[in-house]
Amino acid sequence: MSFSRSDFPEGFLFGAATAAYQIEGAQYGGAGHSHWDTFAATPGNVIRREDGAQACDHYHRYEEDFDILKAGGFDAYRFSTSWARVQPEGKGPANPEGLDFYDRLVDAMLARDLKPFLTLYHWELPSALADIGGWANREIPERFADFSELVMGRIGDRVSATATLNEPWCVAFLSHFLGHHAPGLRDIRATARAMHHVMLAHGLATERMRGLGHENLGIVLNFDRAIPASGSAEDRAATATQDAVFNRWFIEAITKGAYPEEALAFLGPHMPAGWEADMATINKPLDWLGVNYYTRHVVKANADDPMSPINLDAELPTTQMGWEIYPEGLEYFLTWLKDEQVGDTPLYVTENGMAWDDRVENGTVFDPERIGFIDGHYQAALRAIKAGANVKGFFYWSLLDNYEWAFGYEKRFGMVHVDFDSMVRTPKASYHALKAAMAR
Ligand code: FCB
Repeated sequence: MSFSRSDFPEGFLFGAATAAYQIEGAQYGGAGHSHWDTFAATPGNVIRREDGAQACDHYHRYEEDFDILKAGGFDAYRFSTSWARVQPEGKGPANPEGLDFYDRLVDAMLARDLKPFLTLYHWELPSALADIGGWANREIPERFADFSELVMGRIGDRVSATATLNEPWCVAFLSHFLGHHAPGLRDIRATARAMHHVMLAHGLATERMRGLGHENLGIVLNFDRAIPASGSAEDRAATATQDAVFNRWFIEAITKGAYPEEALAFLGPHMPAGWEADMATINKPLDWLGVNYYTRHVVKANADDPMSPINLDAELPTTQMGWEIYPEGLEYFLTWLKDEQVGDTPLYVTENGMAWDDRVENGTVFDPERIGFIDGHYQAALRAIKAGANVKGFFYWSLLDNYEWAFGYEKRFGMVHVDFDSMVRTPKASYHALKAAMAR
């Protein structure tokens, strides 16, 4: 790596991130079913119909996983709680085994001086709540606030920071309009409702947690740089729509108490009645903002479907996901967020990383591509910091190769290789390179 820890401000946190369904093993510990179990079981949704029943068996192997983090010299760990593990029916009494698990997990982090960064919801909605309409139903935000109270009542005294939701764009738009994630809908009415209810869930849970005295509350949003394919008015308008739906909708609900006009032009007629009255609940200051950033898209107008513009084929080198490698986008969003949205509010890069078909030879994993990717993006964060963005930490996605949703176990994002038969973990060259940079 071309950077060192000493290039970053004092106290900057170097971390790694994961999410419950992708690593824990959903079959263990009395967890209830989630809509990801059923989405995965439905033929055609996920490669080889793979699911998170076993995942990385982190449920039993977390001590080993945290030893790897500790040995690497990391400061912080971002994890999520599974709602169905804590409340198998999505509401009502907690599953004691579920809360006990997260209690042990947090203590195991603290025993290694790893700062716990909690995300309450990283996508696995309990099936019992999916059955009543999931995020299209206004009851879900209320139940989410209950869930946040339960989790924080148990571990809120020991976590460093808490995010309500991970990537509401994926929860709402990717899952209800594009149909790529659970529940796999293509329905504009469900989309508009979900787009609003995820933000209401954030607002209600934040209000509830603040009322109980919990501190350092934020949210994790994803951003994707949209660049017009040409200077034509059509391509520029399509880019503005994509930018509004993806990058502006969620943050501006929080910072401005309004959804962007360019997105309401399409979603407005399908919004739930009385949504305007909820905006005051959502429009509250954050203690911190998590930024997930992976790539950019070059956008061309699509006359047939203005909400899904055409993305041109990649021009830049891509990752195993086919995503263009474009670190400048991270620098752009960190400075844009400072200038236009949150000012000095602390920013954390809560996810950034790449999937690659890593070469494993005699127990060693060579991933020079990933080393280059990490280097480029940490340098982009450094440039944003020099430009005045208050970036306080950077979490690599992901600690482990894991269940990459609709791509099953095929796409490997980890800085630690996982053999999914033996469950053996092998730190990759990128882990060792990052360890050396953090030690300097
Ligand atoms: C993000 C998700 C995370 C992982 C990465 C690759 O959108 O938050 O769970 O799948 O992408």
